[in-house]
Amino acid sequence: MTVQINPSILSADFARLAAEAEAVKGADWLHVDVMDNHFVPNLTLGVPVVESLSRATDTPLDCHLMIEDPDRWAPQYVEAGAGSVTFHAEAAHAPVRLAREIRAKGARASMALKPATPIEPYEDLLPELDMLLIMTVEPGFGGQKFLDIMLPKIRRTRQLIERHGLELWLQVDGGVSAETIERCADAGADVFVAGSAVYGTDDPAAAVRSLRELAET
Ligand code: DX5
Ligand code: ZN
Repeated sequence: MTVQINPSILSADFARLAAEAEAVKGADWLHVDVMDNHFVPNLTLGVPVVESLSRATDTPLDCHLMIEDPDRWAPQYVEAGAGSVTFHAEAAHAPVRLAREIRAKGARASMALKPATPIEPYEDLLPELDMLLIMTVEPGFGGQKFLDIMLPKIRRTRQLIERHGLELWLQVDGGVSAETIERCADAGADVFVAGSAVYGTDDPAAAVRSLRELAET
């Protein structure tokens, strides 16, 4: 399994986004958290910022939409330059149609599950997706404590992916750090989002390298 490390710019300096992207050169994707203050109790950025950031960096953008009505907004993030767009299962009105639209517009389609949302009802949708995101904190804020109780869900999802012979990536987001990344990798995750564990350090590029090493062992 190829490990990918995606720093979350939620923990970066929003006034210096281009430099913060440069500071994690070597990362696989930049994770961009879009929050609308409805789906989650926090507000971050939208389409114009994604558009500017995609012009300012060569690192592809992994946009995590924590918003209501992603059916309406997600396609605009593809047009803004996102290489991967994740919508939440709890918010999407027509997830199959939406995943197909994201793919048709040329991006990777991904769906996220909040901690209390089980994977099983979505089993038949997996072939429509390029990535599944299992939240390991309640979405909305960086720097929260990793929820160990999500490990069995990660394990069950990996089993489903294998049973169906799918290529789908399995991403974890929330509280991923040097202390928790090995447990996630052991449970079957292969794409790791880390905000505070990368941007909360003096050397973000070195933090990416050491997280990668831990996940690969
Ligand atoms: C939280 C966001 C995460 C956040 C993770 O809702 O989806 O991407 O930036 O931050 P850490 O890694 O600090 O938990
Ligand atoms: Zn996120």
